[in-house]
Amino acid sequence: MQKIIIASDHAGFELKNKIIKHLNTKEYIIKDNGCYSQEAADYPVIAKETAKLVSDGTFDKGILICGTGIGMSIAANKINGIRAAVCTDTTCARFSRLHNNSNILCLGQRIIGEYLAYDICDIWLNTDFEAERHLKRVNLIENFYS
Ligand code: RB5
Repeated sequence: MQKIIIASDHAGFELKNKIIKHLNTKEYIIKDNGCYSQEAADYPVIAKETAKLVSDGTFDKGILICGTGIGMSIAANKINGIRAAVCTDTTCARFSRLHNNSNILCLGQRIIGEYLAYDICDIWLNTDFEAERHLKRVNLIENFYS
């Protein structure tokens, strides 16, 4: 069973709660890593803390939600081993897994509706990395700091 950690700032709070409800109808282990109210919260802090728990293997994948998904992705991608992808459609979600082996999905509550978000999550969580020729390219990124 995939272990998924999901978190948001205040601008993604409502969509986070809806996605958690949606994913709880399926076979995942879900950890809600906050935020827990609409009170203003700093997305870099939340992204860093959540991304570290994906990077160290505590969770298989992460979902981060803010207003646009962009701030969360910029912050999460600073963490070693994280490949965070902002997806606004299902094709990006599929290819971010097939070709980029993305391990964090970033969504924007101010950008997409909840039903599109559910489809994006379902496709992203159920698409495997193709590896093959893409493995070398992903490894080239992983080796940036070694
Ligand atoms: C918060 O207003 C907003 O800036 C944040 O949620 C996010 O969209 C940043 O990228």
